[in-house]
Amino acid sequence: MGELQRVVLATTNPHKIQEFREILASAPCALVSPDELGMTVRMEETGATFAENAVLKALAYAETVGLPALADDSGLEIDALHGEPGVYSARWAGEGTPYTERFRILNERLSDVPDEQRTARYRCVIALAEPTPRGLYAVVAGTLEGRIAREARGTGGFGYDPIFYVPEQGRTVAEMPSEEKHAISHRGRAAAAVLGPLVRMLDQRAYSISRD
Ligand code: IMP
Repeated sequence: MGELQRVVLATTNPHKIQEFREILASAPCALVSPDELGMTVRMEETGATFAENAVLKALAYAETVGLPALADDSGLEIDALHGEPGVYSARWAGEGTPYTERFRILNERLSDVPDEQRTARYRCVIALAEPTPRGLYAVVAGTLEGRIAREARGTGGFGYDPIFYVPEQGRTVAEMPSEEKHAISHRGRAAAAVLGPLVRMLDQRAYSISRD
């Protein structure tokens, strides 16, 4: 059997890298981080939507690194805040602001909103791209519906997970073991949808390499 083909994860977020490795553990490829390749791809997320940003990132990394790239753009949308923080989730309240401080600000802004109107969702769009001449291969999405909790609970996951409450489960995402988060999460669902296209793309690449 030959060596596994490499696919670069188009992100520098260590939490996303870890989650992708756990979720896509069965994928027939090696998921490498830009760090492991000694690459730093600097790019502004200039898109107005998760899909635009995911596509921009996947194409930029595939081009710079010269390998197929898998990019995730994701975030939290809070209905009572008209979809904020949305595509700005990573930078919301200022780049590097601790999440405990973000939870405080969010809860202050939502203080008059009754529990049943504190609805929110996580969204994740994954784009898969190959270096030129091929380009974009697939774009898929996943969501997780929930509510913003009044208090942070749990130590698992990352980012907004301690205040993202899933009513059907009676707990926040940060209170779930990682496999249980992945089974229902926006990223887990989008990754499940990208597995088919990823396997097809790897097969096509292996076939074209074997003919060269
Ligand atoms: P991106 O790197 O621009 O896609 O930013 C994603 C941001 O959305 C993260 O930095 C978090 O603030 C938030 N986010 C996305 N997915 C999750 C998740 O699974 N749990 C908690 N926060 C998340």
